[in-house]
Amino acid sequence: MRTAIALGSALALAAVAFGQTATYKEPHRPQFHFTPPTNWTNDPNGLVYHDGEWHLFYQYNPFGDRWGHMSWGHAVSPDLFRWRHLAVAIPEAEEVMAFSGSAVVDSRNTSGLGRAGRPPMVAIYTSRTSEDQTQSIAFSLDRGRTWTQYEGNPVLDVEDPAFRDPKVFWHEGTQRWIMAVVLANQRKVSLYGSPDLKAWTHLSDFGPEGAHPVSNWECPDLFELPVEGEPGASKWILQVDSGRGHPWTGSGCQYFVGEFDGVRFTNDNPPETALWLDWGRDFYAAQSFAGVPTNDGRRIVIGWINNWMYANRTPTSPWRGAQSVPRQLQLKRFPEGLRLLQQPASEIEGLRGRALRLDDLSVPEANRAIDDAGFRGDVLELHAEIEVRDSSDVGFRILRGAGETLVGFTAAPAEVYVDRTKSGEAAFHESFPGRHSARLKPDNGIVELRILVDRSVVEVFAGRGRAVITDRVFPQPSSDGLSLYSRGGEARIVSLNAWKLRSAWE
Ligand code: FRU
Repeated sequence: MRTAIALGSALALAAVAFGQTATYKEPHRPQFHFTPPTNWTNDPNGLVYHDGEWHLFYQYNPFGDRWGHMSWGHAVSPDLFRWRHLAVAIPEAEEVMAFSGSAVVDSRNTSGLGRAGRPPMVAIYTSRTSEDQTQSIAFSLDRGRTWTQYEGNPVLDVEDPAFRDPKVFWHEGTQRWIMAVVLANQRKVSLYGSPDLKAWTHLSDFGPEGAHPVSNWECPDLFELPVEGEPGASKWILQVDSGRGHPWTGSGCQYFVGEFDGVRFTNDNPPETALWLDWGRDFYAAQSFAGVPTNDGRRIVIGWINNWMYANRTPTSPWRGAQSVPRQLQLKRFPEGLRLLQQPASEIEGLRGRALRLDDLSVPEANRAIDDAGFRGDVLELHAEIEVRDSSDVGFRILRGAGETLVGFTAAPAEVYVDRTKSGEAAFHESFPGRHSARLKPDNGIVELRILVDRSVVEVFAGRGRAVITDRVFPQPSSDGLSLYSRGGEARIVSLNAWKLRSAWE
């Protein structure tokens, strides 16, 4: 039996036993992506903004660097990039793991859990035993620093062994809380409503339309987004993660565009229209922040950078797993329909250091300029506009050393890609090496690429965020070379803005 108090001392023991202190200078350690100091992380949980702080809770194993003993780790940030680690918020207790979920600030105190005018921060998560998955709540009255379990838990139990990952939001239209939660094995998102976060009524189910036939569904999210350039127009996005259904195999993040009337979500597209947030192998369990002030108004998501196919084997120590940079979402109309655009949250600009700017150069000229400037690095932001001309394949070689990772664009088929076949250590799983692409039409002959390079994480936002690819790579130390290539013809570098990014952990 493990109580919350016992867990505190066990944690201290675990730290001694591992003999590890994190320096954030270890090989492969990302410098501006969130990773826990030690041990395993998977899904982001409980993303909420409150009182000047962005809260990131995350699936965490306090006892080791593989999945197990799932608890909610916790960190806070003033700016979405510089995180301060806090104590485990919701520990595994008495063999009941704390699986994924969300958090809200109950500013109206609908739950009655607030005290003396202090609104409670409420976490809604899955209590998981070997037989059962039920939804529980816990609350904090001190800005998420300490947590109390609600004595009436579980608040929702349908006697299903794969019922999990509640995402809760306040719905203005019906003046109540809405929960999206999955029946994972049935590939269904169930919606529930509640006046007080405690009593939940079933509203409707969505799925398994558009689902991969053998996969499960996990970590749903449901939110409204304005349509860019169409004043007054908005749509609802139902996002759900597919454990094994991603086009390049393994886990990935799907979304549907449609309507939510306070009871039911309806998909605007035919069921077979599978839309993916990310075309890399390493973006899963995305969740959006609650509580973003209206004067900010952004919809910001974070995803887990990993793939269940090999998540337990990625070669890092003393931690395993990373979170994506926070991404701003927009919804925009294209000839094929409404699609999400993603960009790194603008706060990333605060990390920009040494810059290089090139304009209107051929690829060989650009390479000379990069060399002359001695511009290299493994923690970079690159922003390029490339006129494709008659080039059949053009892009960047990044993280060059003994190996290299390619981030490029091919004209036929028109797609952007990341090729990590020769990126470094790749033998830890047979499905890890490979090339992952996403369809992208050039805009007036120009391809726009925004690439974040962070030692062992590559995030590519191409076509103004229309095609996104996230891949992990494990290069040899000091693989920091950078150059461009063009095959089969000439391409023109219309502009390149490159920055070294400062570590967020200093
Ligand atoms: C998704 C997931 C969730 C679950 C959690 C357990 O990656 O499988 O469905 O709540 O991880 O750690």
